[in-house]
Amino acid sequence: MGPVSVVVTALWAMVPAYVPNNAAALAGGGRPIDGGRTWGGRRLLGDGKTWRGTAAGTAAGVALALVLEAARPGAAAVLGVAVPVFSLPAAFGLALGAMCGDIGASFLKRRTGRERGAPVPGLDQLDFVVGALALAAAFDFAWVAATFGPPELAVVLVATPLLHVLTNWVAYALGFKNEPW
Ligand code: CTP
Ligand code: MG
Repeated sequence: MGPVSVVVTALWAMVPAYVPNNAAALAGGGRPIDGGRTWGGRRLLGDGKTWRGTAAGTAAGVALALVLEAARPGAAAVLGVAVPVFSLPAAFGLALGAMCGDIGASFLKRRTGRERGAPVPGLDQLDFVVGALALAAAFDFAWVAATFGPPELAVVLVATPLLHVLTNWVAYALGFKNEPW
């Protein structure tokens, strides 16, 4: 596979994992997942992880996968390379996994004494990638194995932090997020 094909495959396949965080920021609010509970004097997750945000983020990721499926023939023709075919379990795993990775990071942040919104460079940019790939593999291992070889994973690890920083900065500038990370 040529380099264009690798980059297209990697980024296309990760869209259902990229969208949930932004959708959650738009839709978030209401009851926090941890219900206000604390552990060791600190919130379990914090007010930044809500049921509504998690559900909306997951739904948005799956919806985007369906949109990409509809756009796939046209995109493949325009780009001149094959683009990944999503399975529903893979799309659901990517979207829910992205949310779970982000939630796991908040859990770790609270355990290390960081307040809601505190930045942890590296963790903030890659938590959802780890969660997304892990849950996608749990739901459809064959899809992950067929889609992500070492070159695609390398592209994801390099491009994701850049895209994440960019989109979060835009979301912050537009007033949808409280911090630019
Ligand atoms: N959000 C949500 N539910 C989620 C994830 C995010 O409701 N599962 C919403 C919250 O309103 C949150 C916003 O999206 O404030 C931005 O998400 P994020 O930056 O992940 O949360 P933070 O508020 O920064 O909290 P934390 O320090 O725990 O990451
Ligand atoms: Mg944050």
